[in-house]
Amino acid sequence: MNPLIVALDHPDRAQILAWATDFGPHVGMVKIGLEAFCAHGPDLVRSVHDHAEVFLDLKLHDIPNTVAGAARQCNALGVSLLTVHASGGPEMIAAAVEAAPDVRVIAVTVLTSLDAQTLSVVGQGQDVNTQVQRLAKMAIDAGAAGVVCAPPDLVGVRRVIGDTPITVVPGIRPAGSAVGDQKRVATPEAARAMGATYLVVGRPITCDPTPLKVISRLNGQH
Ligand code: C5P
Repeated sequence: MNPLIVALDHPDRAQILAWATDFGPHVGMVKIGLEAFCAHGPDLVRSVHDHAEVFLDLKLHDIPNTVAGAARQCNALGVSLLTVHASGGPEMIAAAVEAAPDVRVIAVTVLTSLDAQTLSVVGQGQDVNTQVQRLAKMAIDAGAAGVVCAPPDLVGVRRVIGDTPITVVPGIRPAGSAVGDQKRVATPEAARAMGATYLVVGRPITCDPTPLKVISRLNGQH
């Protein structure tokens, strides 16, 4: 299994399809996020799926019946991974898992854009690590196949979920590359050593003039 997932974050359909065609054979999956999905919808997912396995990062969060309906549609699109928000609760997660039997449903715990102060403002008065680990455990117990998690959270999350569930880890930077706006980063090797199953990399590949060289370098580093 190739653990590398490339985030195809771009508003332009032709660009996304060109990347999917070029990168698909050399990576484990490509990630389609909210911007591309809101712009081009399920039709884009179908077209990308012709060239690569798809991680659809929609971070679903609604009542269980509504999330189940959305997850069922994603299942029909043939995606391999789908995100939901763990804070939607165990019933919502279980409903998504049941409605999408061919998809690995993975849970987002605490958005990395939230710090302790913001967490208390939204009424989750825990320190961030405690809340990440509590939500990760709850999501796996509810049937999620894994969790999305930042590199520094990996060891603590593995401690509570064990070795079997998958972990999908953004904030990956090849050794020696620019960090950009990512604050909590790791190299592919370090993230894999801490228990990452999949590594999500976006701009270090998509903004590079020779992206296939970066992919090849990354493929040698995990
Ligand atoms: O370009 P870059 O490698 O930073 O892209 C990482 C991808 O992972 C983006 O699609 C970003 O939205 C996503 N992501 C992240 N950090 C998180 C969760 C998701 O960077 N904590």
